[in-house]
Amino acid sequence: MLKQFAVIGNPIEQSRSPELHHAFAEKTGIKLHYVKRFAEIDAFEASVADFFRHDGSGMNVTVPFKERAFALCEHFSERAKIAKAVNTLWMQDGKLHGDNTDGQGLVEAMNALDWSLKNTDILMIGAGGATRGVIYPLVQAGAKKIVIANRTRLKAENLVDDLKDAVPEAELKACGLDQLEGQFDIVINATSASLSGDALILPENLMFNHAYEMAYGKPSSFIEQAKARGVPTSEGYGMLVGQAIEAFGIWHGIKPTLKDFL
Ligand code: ATR
Repeated sequence: MLKQFAVIGNPIEQSRSPELHHAFAEKTGIKLHYVKRFAEIDAFEASVADFFRHDGSGMNVTVPFKERAFALCEHFSERAKIAKAVNTLWMQDGKLHGDNTDGQGLVEAMNALDWSLKNTDILMIGAGGATRGVIYPLVQAGAKKIVIANRTRLKAENLVDDLKDAVPEAELKACGLDQLEGQFDIVINATSASLSGDALILPENLMFNHAYEMAYGKPSSFIEQAKARGVPTSEGYGMLVGQAIEAFGIWHGIKPTLKDFL
């Protein structure tokens, strides 16, 4: 029987993971079967247990279950521990293992764009799970200062307090969205504003050289403003492919090249 993989979420129809993993499998000569798996909100844990009980090999986890997946794991990576969220599960020695590949996916997407992260000043807009998941990999890739700006300033301050010991080599700062100013190498929109169709207005005196929108497939006022300024921009498809490649690497020990799938 082919090795079985799945992505679990609610909703799940929108997921591109099965097509990506099948494309990677074809490229690397690995045989697998990968499906979408819907879980009712109160049935996530039971669905994961059922999947692995029936010899499932690996699972990706998407919204809204990444924190609950973390809570289920008996073993997890340092980056998953810092993110407090897991998007990749597998069984090893009878124990559920978890990792979070989202942040490395973003780093790989930026590498593929030739946006250097070495010694960069980064502005992260948003202080939810999407931001939490990427801070450590960004610092590991060389970011030297990260300002986390959030509509609710207190949430950004709490996130900085929580993460600063995990990334002592970088300077982390918090501010409110209404206090945005200064000059940055890269601005990353990690809010859910464009997913809910809300505009995010950047002040004129905010200077930046690159703009990355983590959301994918929705109109983004953030990207429109960056384009109007003439700076290079990118939306979340590269990150999506990047996190999938990282998960594939964990499960199969071989990583396809990101640029082949952009
Ligand atoms: P995720 O896990 O995707 O990060 P989340 O934890 O719900 O989702 O966080 C959503 C983030 O988007 C938050 O930082 C939120 O700001 P608040 O903490 O002030 O709620 C931000 N966000 C959502 N809609 C926004 C909007 N219209 N303008 C600015 N920020 C917004």
